[in-house]
Amino acid sequence: MTSVLISPSILSADFATLGEEIRAIDAAGADFIHVDVMDGHFVPNLTIGPPVVKALRPHTDKPFDVHLMIAPVDPYIPAFAEAGANILTVHPEAGPHTHRTLQAIRAAGMKAGVSLNPGSPAALVEPLIDLADLILVMSVNPGFGGQRFISSQLRKIETLRAMIDATGRDILLEVDGGVNPETARQCIDAGATVLVAGSAVFKGGPSQYKSNIESLRPKRLV
Ligand code: DX5
Ligand code: ZN
Repeated sequence: MTSVLISPSILSADFATLGEEIRAIDAAGADFIHVDVMDGHFVPNLTIGPPVVKALRPHTDKPFDVHLMIAPVDPYIPAFAEAGANILTVHPEAGPHTHRTLQAIRAAGMKAGVSLNPGSPAALVEPLIDLADLILVMSVNPGFGGQRFISSQLRKIETLRAMIDATGRDILLEVDGGVNPETARQCIDAGATVLVAGSAVFKGGPSQYKSNIESLRPKRLV
């Protein structure tokens, strides 16, 4: 079985002590650190930008999995690269030139991700797949943590799994939104390889982070 990576979303962390929170999820076994960047325009919420990513960089060696919910994207690519982002994921719904954006992300030395809103079809990824290192399926409408998983997205995960397998490339297939131990299993069964979770990881405070992360991983049968 391919192993599943867990990418805690710091949107559910204590923003007053973000450095400590990052160190705590790193020690608890997080594989990536998911950073949600929102602009109050592409999504109806505002969060953080490159200066915060830069300030957090010394607190962990784990890859920063940065999810941009902003429009436009291109003017900010150099700042995220300089801040220490490792994976930069963008939404094709946010602008007409996603192909060029993915080229620019790779040219800046980062891995490139493509993310789809729940209302967008898997087919949007097809012309971009050669430039994608990661595909992110939003299983809630982006903008807020703590929402309920939209089950219809499981079919999209299955479709994208088949598209990825057909390329023969090792493209990560990530799911974001409403992931808990039950929906995590459904996502893994559908072919996901990276799970983002905010509320399910941060609930209960630092003493619970390790067991919360482990509860999302596939159970061993033996
Ligand atoms: C939503 C964000 C998610 C969110 C996940 O726009 O992209 O990363 O923080 O939070 P939970 O796991 O609580 O749904
Ligand atoms: Zn996200």
